[in-house]
Amino acid sequence: MHRVMTAMQHLFDRHGTAYDRYTHRVFGGLHACALADAVRAAPPGGAVLDVGAGPGRLAVALASRRADLTVHAIDISLDMIEVARRHAQDAGVADRTHIEVADVAAVPLADDSVDVVISTASFHHWRDVSGAARELTRVTRPGGRIWIYDLRLAPWRRLAAAVGAPITRTPAGLLFTRAELPNNLRSPTRD
Ligand SMILES: C[S@@+](CC[C@H](N)C(=O)[O-])C[C@H]1O[C@@H](n2cnc3c(N)ncnc32)[C@H](O)[C@@H]1O
Repeated sequence: MHRVMTAMQHLFDRHGTAYDRYTHRVFGGLHACALADAVRAAPPGGAVLDVGAGPGRLAVALASRRADLTVHAIDISLDMIEVARRHAQDAGVADRTHIEVADVAAVPLADDSVDVVISTASFHHWRDVSGAARELTRVTRPGGRIWIYDLRLAPWRRLAAAVGAPITRTPAGLLFTRAELPNNLRSPTRD
């Protein structure tokens, strides 16, 4: 399993354009689900973070739909980020999208700076799940929402163990699950 994930990440690191061409149809339904959630939950003038955004189609769709939002998108692969930046330019939303290379375990955003976090089909690649849980709860303001969408077979128990609390899971189509992280977890240094 680990070897498969490493090979997949190698693909993401070098072939963002090919990934974009062939996979956006597969994830279209999942993106529609995450887009609807983010559009509904983000307050006027709010900020949304897409984690493991890949070629950025979801982040760009969100920025196009909600001109009032600031949309942050991070991905560990520079190749993906370059494709995402091109999409943002082409869609005319580059001024409202901040697209950066970053690991989910080290998000380059301030505490409590985001209203909604979304992430599609990326979680099962995360090596440092504890670091991810810590960072996503750190950057999300109290009362904000954190939704992670991934395969039903993704390691959800690891995520719940990392969070140290149950996570709410609902189906998101036949193959996918939507998990909501509890957002009342704060490190001792922040209390
Ligand atoms: C299957 S792709 C999904 C991309 C996009 N979210 C989508 O729905 O098409 C998984 C993405 O997660 C990214 N990724 C993997 N590990 C990551 C990490 N630790 N932090 C941020 N991004 C990561 C990969 O580089 C890849 O772009």
